[in-house]
Amino acid sequence: MKDLEALRTLIRLGSLHTPMAVRVAATLRLVDHIRAGATSAGELAERTGTDPDALARLVRHLVAIGVLQESAPGRLAPTEVGLLLADDHPAAQRAWHDLNQIVARADVGFVRLLDAVHTGRPTYADFYGKTFYDDLADRPDLRESFDTLMACDQDVAYDAPAAAYDWSGVRHVCDVGGGTGGFVTAIARLAPHVTATVVELPGTAAAAREHLAAEGLTERVEVVEADFFKPLPCAADVMILSFVLLNWPDEEAVRILERCAESLEPGGRILVYERDDLEESSSNELFTELDLRMLVFLGGRLRTRDAWWDLAARAGLDVEAVHRLPSPTIPFDLSLLVLAPAGEAP
Ligand SMILES: C[S@@+](CC[C@H](N)C(=O)[O-])C[C@H]1O[C@@H](n2cnc3c(N)ncnc32)[C@H](O)[C@@H]1O
Repeated sequence: MKDLEALRTLIRLGSLHTPMAVRVAATLRLVDHIRAGATSAGELAERTGTDPDALARLVRHLVAIGVLQESAPGRLAPTEVGLLLADDHPAAQRAWHDLNQIVARADVGFVRLLDAVHTGRPTYADFYGKTFYDDLADRPDLRESFDTLMACDQDVAYDAPAAAYDWSGVRHVCDVGGGTGGFVTAIARLAPHVTATVVELPGTAAAAREHLAAEGLTERVEVVEADFFKPLPCAADVMILSFVLLNWPDEEAVRILERCAESLEPGGRILVYERDDLEESSSNELFTELDLRMLVFLGGRLRTRDAWWDLAARAGLDVEAVHRLPSPTIPFDLSLLVLAPAGEAP
């Protein structure tokens, strides 16, 4: 009996069809169509332009795994889990699972996880012919989906790290790879004397300008299009790297840190907002999932506390402080690491 349970668990864990079935449901917006009145498999096939027989078989599996249910014979309704796939659900799970949007598209690279484990290299280009960020640069639709997914909780996501730092002596901040400007917006709310620059790639820079204009911050925050592997276009008292270094292997991460360090004003600091691994996080499924995603998507990684110390040292920096911060949006703590030029930390 116990063996049978273990077997069931293994088969469920090892299944590739179920995650793909959920993703196809998300991509075809099945839950939205059902809520709009297409409650039979036939009507869903018609609305989605799919093969009626194949769609009916997909729907049967979605019922079997508890995403959909039969509300009456032949009539479908989303379950509580299925409702999370509604496009207007605040958790935005439909977009995260949509195969035409960047994260689910990159997840397809897990089919080649074996290669990534053999080589330590990402698999994205094996599928799509170019690296993750090159693909985003060439496909505005993917870039837009990336910016939207990355910014999905930005109204609240940066309050804690912004509040964890003393901005009183800071005049200018540079958020390097700053996305659409969520972090600098949180700083601007807390510290009205601080001005900022967001350094971003062109497509995201445009989205950042739009966001900052909507926040009324155009006067205080400049957005500059630049490559953070090259000398940075701004000097600042504080350089921010929020969820940037996890995208990159150590060598590239050191180069980004070096670019930041060389643009610091005297007495300046680099703030890294990410996760420094403590014992408990190695068993956190979301943490390990994000770590594997970074491997498969980009060859990047999440880092242990020791790895952060080593990385900082390689870039001529010391870890001056680590603030552990509960995240309002994801179920593991995050960390604000304060890095100082070597020998400058008190
Ligand atoms: C994972 S996102 C993090 C965005 C934001 N800092 C946040 O906290 O959500 C990484 C960002 O790095 C930017 N990026 C990637 N390569 C870059 C490069 N070479 N130069 C400048 N920005 C880059 C991406 O456009 C993206 O917005």
